[in-house]
Amino acid sequence: MKCDLLIVSAAQLVTAPPGTGPLLGPDLDRPWILEDAAVACVDGRIAAVGKTRDVCAGYPEREAASVLDARGSLLAPGFIDCHTHLPFPGTREMEFEARARGETYASIAERGGGIRASVRHLHATSEEALAAAVRGRLARLLAQGTTTVEAKSGYGLSLEEERKQLRALRRAAAESPVEVIPTFLGAHEVPDEYRARREDYVALLVDSMIPAVAGEHLARYCDVFCDRGVFTVEESRRILLRGKEFGLEPKLHADELADVGAAALAAELRATSADHLLHASPSGLRAMAEAGVIAVLLPGTAFTLGLPYARARIMVEMGLALALATDWNPGSTMCSSMAMGMTLAVTQMKLTPTEAWMAATANAACAVGEGSRLGRLQPGFQADLVLFGALDHRHVAYHYAEDHVRTAVKRGTVVLDRSDRSSCA
Ligand code: NIG
Ligand code: FE
Repeated sequence: MKCDLLIVSAAQLVTAPPGTGPLLGPDLDRPWILEDAAVACVDGRIAAVGKTRDVCAGYPEREAASVLDARGSLLAPGFIDCHTHLPFPGTREMEFEARARGETYASIAERGGGIRASVRHLHATSEEALAAAVRGRLARLLAQGTTTVEAKSGYGLSLEEERKQLRALRRAAAESPVEVIPTFLGAHEVPDEYRARREDYVALLVDSMIPAVAGEHLARYCDVFCDRGVFTVEESRRILLRGKEFGLEPKLHADELADVGAAALAAELRATSADHLLHASPSGLRAMAEAGVIAVLLPGTAFTLGLPYARARIMVEMGLALALATDWNPGSTMCSSMAMGMTLAVTQMKLTPTEAWMAATANAACAVGEGSRLGRLQPGFQADLVLFGALDHRHVAYHYAEDHVRTAVKRGTVVLDRSDRSSCA
């Protein structure tokens, strides 16, 4: 049979076994690993995966429109970065220094820095300039092996400014091969002018911002920072239920700074994911496991802020579905590398390298509601894959702060080609 793209002779292939759901418990450490592997792509989808000789029996090289020789490479699904604040304006290195001098994330936020500093930056940034910045960041993500990214607003905190962020994101996404899943995070912080009357801001979110954002199809998810000093469980419930009413599925920044019961709220609302969870209670986590809420872990944030890491091993034992993401934002973690996230997951949270791969691909796809289309090398799935200059999947997290990506394929098309670079192993 004919195919559009045939990738042959990969030294190794790593993917989740066939399926559409997240890998739970011991299954997280049971990937499908194959030597001398091939993938055939037709119409942007994967048509066959397996040993080179088996795939080529059905899709011979001479009939392929294009053939990629993957000798010496690791073949894997593109990373799915399922939690970022991608359309952020400006950077906050002054806070990076302030923390080194003894301040904390919370104390910086209390004195008007943190998210509110980025709100001021956004005011001074046009939609065009923000879209240009996002375009550059999407290119950066692709070069790091990320083929799908979830991206949150949350530095506007007014209808006009939130809309500016989401429109800039949409403009940039239209010109990039990287797929963007937009999330409305108007409840990221209480803006300065509402500090003394926060209930008015919640009313604004519920009465006008959510309907307007949904009406313009600017977001797929609604997220809330449900934590100490930010939004309470009651406020978060109201906002997320309103989002649901307008077709925006719930996600939460949950129990990052303290246990406020956000994990249990995620379970109650059957949120797609609850993220951070550094302080989530065992009962909250158990409720999440029962409700099938994905736990998105963001080790880069704990690393940057010097916080305790999420208890990933306990979560796996509880039967929670774990996903990994970068949380790329200018405050708590200025890092766009999923490979670095895997390194931190292995060294600091004691996931195995294969667990980290599954959490960064198949389970991350489930955390953005795309478990039956993305995140696996499986017939019928979208052909989003990456070749790394490595012979073994463990190498990518092990050899950290290194650029291993050689080739990226999105929807069956080569969108990044650096195959001329030698491997650095
Ligand atoms: O996920 N926790 C809340 N929001 C971001 C930080 C945003 C910022 O500091 O700008 C996070 O860590
Ligand atoms: Fe975040």
